Amino acid sequence: MARSNGCAIMHVRVLLALAFFSVVLIVGDAQSSATLVPAIISFGDSSIDVGNNDYLYTIFKADYPPYGRDFKNREATGRFCNGKLATDITAETLGFTSFPPAYLSPQASGKNLLIGANFASAASGYYDETAYLYHAIPLSQQLEYFKEYQVKLAKVAGSKTASSILSDALYIVSTGSSDFLQNYYINPFLNKHQSPDEYSSMLVGIFSNFIKDLHSLGARRIGVTSLPPLGCVPAAITLFGFGSNGCVSRLNNDAKNFNKKLNAATNSLAKQFHNLKIAVFDIYQPLYDLVINPSSQGFFEARRGCCGTGTFETTILLCNPKSIGTCKNATGYVFWDSVHPSEAANQVLADSLLLAGINLIT
Ligand SMILES: *[C@@H]1O[C@H](CO)[C@@H](O)[C@H](O)[C@H]1NC(C)=O
Repeated sequence: MARSNGCAIMHVRVLLALAFFSVVLIVGDAQSSATLVPAIISFGDSSIDVGNNDYLYTIFKADYPPYGRDFKNREATGRFCNGKLATDITAETLGFTSFPPAYLSPQASGKNLLIGANFASAASGYYDETAYLYHAIPLSQQLEYFKEYQVKLAKVAGSKTASSILSDALYIVSTGSSDFLQNYYINPFLNKHQSPDEYSSMLVGIFSNFIKDLHSLGARRIGVTSLPPLGCVPAAITLFGFGSNGCVSRLNNDAKNFNKKLNAATNSLAKQFHNLKIAVFDIYQPLYDLVINPSSQGFFEARRGCCGTGTFETTILLCNPKSIGTCKNATGYVFWDSVHPSEAANQVLADSLLLAGINLIT
């Protein structure tokens, strides 16, 4: 099964191997020679949450089977996937042998903090109101936790090492889908008063301010994911597709329009801050290509999630131990549940993340 756009990916892997080799040569001590960046610090929603929601009173949790079915020790960590998230795979590619802890978990203490932390919370968005609807951690609060993390890190590492960890770390922001699927499209207070275009502009405004805040707190390498093709996730087809079985183009157009604004804002931030490396990780195109032509990359099912039948989704969007017809083997499925890609699809997304992110880490 050919699952990557061959040459380009190989090229990046070779570049990474070379970069990795030189890092090992230059940096003497064991701790920092193991990885290409010292730490990964993440903000966002269920696309990147590694278990913060386990510690919240929210219905958006993934700390029970069959979530995590194909993860290490079959553990349901709180990741909204059968296995690894795209960013987990990226972390491994960068040389990490363990993952930065969910900030609210007991693991987020002591030396574990040296490799970063994850502040993401499923059902959160750029817009704090989205998170409030579901008792998730709003992005503004994620930033407050990050400030708290900085103090803890300085205690563990010493302030000089801490500040070099913070400036060399890779920051990943992955959010926005919930602002549409779990807020705008179902919330008349928003969709009666703002067009999707106005709403996107508001969200991208929040994004820009968030990046400025991160920059002022020491971030120098930031990757932000684009919105996925919202109209192609199984739940969206069921809820907004009026019985049609294809992707909902209205939703995809909204996502594309948002992504255009996100790209423009990112370019403008890059011009404004010369010491900031920032890139958009486009997940729209690779996921869209997978959905439209799954067999070209070794998949056979793009319409139904492995867990959940693709016909009974509600706004709850999750699967559970009683979900009817959960598939035996998720590797041929693009989607694990009715909104989240499978680990196999995340592998494809991680490849494209790497292509876009190579400039951030070398
Ligand atoms: C699922 O299928 C893939 C490819 O067909 C295979 O490589 C893999 O071992 C299977 N996994 C399980 C858990 O059966």
